[in-house]
Amino acid sequence: KTKMSAPTKTVFVTGGTGYIGSHCIVDLLTEGYQVVTIDNLTNSRVGALGRVAEITGKRPIFYQCDLLDGNTVHKIFAKHKIDFVIHFAAMKAVGESMQFPLIYYKNNVIGTINLIEAMKAHHVYNLVFSSSCTVYGDPEHLPITEQHPTGNVTNVYGRTKYLIEEMLKDLSRADEKWNIIALRYFNPVGAHPSGRLGEDPTKAFTNLMPYIGQVAIGKKPNLTIFGSDYNTPDGTGVRDYIHVMDLASGHVAALTKLYLEHLKFKTYNLGTGEGVSVLQLVKTFESVTNTTITYNLQPRREGDIVAMYANTQLANIQLKWTHKYNLKMMCEDFWRWQTMNPNGYRTIVVYYPTVR
Ligand code: WQD
Repeated sequence: KTKMSAPTKTVFVTGGTGYIGSHCIVDLLTEGYQVVTIDNLTNSRVGALGRVAEITGKRPIFYQCDLLDGNTVHKIFAKHKIDFVIHFAAMKAVGESMQFPLIYYKNNVIGTINLIEAMKAHHVYNLVFSSSCTVYGDPEHLPITEQHPTGNVTNVYGRTKYLIEEMLKDLSRADEKWNIIALRYFNPVGAHPSGRLGEDPTKAFTNLMPYIGQVAIGKKPNLTIFGSDYNTPDGTGVRDYIHVMDLASGHVAALTKLYLEHLKFKTYNLGTGEGVSVLQLVKTFESVTNTTITYNLQPRREGDIVAMYANTQLANIQLKWTHKYNLKMMCEDFWRWQTMNPNGYRTIVVYYPTVR
């Protein structure tokens, strides 16, 4: 494996106290990168970085900062010599995005423009962008490859991801110095195997796995399964669930790719390549955790697609990356986090300097 050569490289991570961001920082610190990270803490807790420190024995530098505050972002680039940027920070609730489109365009798109302008001003052109399989809309064929058309997206959240990808593509055409990888995640689930770090949103969530967890610990009476009449093996929706630590290693692989090669703009699917139905996930969870998940079958959820799973050959070959965690491990690691932190984890306040 091609290690980064010394001196140590610094990665600027936006959204570092969030679910994917915090797990990615564990791998970045373990791989020997320095990490400077920001978050506006609107849907995460600074305690996540305390847990990152417990796991890795290292602390990222953290600033509470919103990407809409462009001046502070510039100050951070002026203060630290940044080699790479990984951009996670975004609002990502599909339903909320339909209710408040302007907030989503402002936060996700304008926020990204502020970040890009700060990078440009400080001559930083290496960027990994957190994108989503949602940009594919309703797939015309499965498994889905990066060549599948993007853009016919029905929800605002997915449209912001699509527009940002198009903006980054235009940027790399206009200025050859840009070196950008967009990673299209499928359905992130699971938690760090230590049970010390996991998905810990401050806002309500609507995703399947966390909801199953709430039913398993008795916080919710039962699971509502949206749609049982889909053209799938058992009639329920099919998705490509991927362990959050596989996503983390995918980002480290993308940094190595950017370090070794100047590729302007490329996209890669990060999934397992395996389609799993809602009922399959419920059954696997029950057998792994020895719990019973009672559920009721309800009509389809507005905007849901039938099935989505990835062709991951491009990432396998070009990023030398593949997933390592299977569905059973995703359930085991999620359950360990859920049961070790039933009422949310005690928050260890991490010291974070303000930007002078
Ligand atoms: C998965 C399956 C539901 C909840 C969204 C975003 C995507 C990404 C992941 C941000 C579907 C079914 C769910 C429940 C259910 N988000 N379900 N009962 O909609 O595939 O993807 O989250 O990056 O961009 O679009 O994820 O977990 O909501 O749903 O039956 O209570 O579970 O119908 O088939 P989704 P999900």
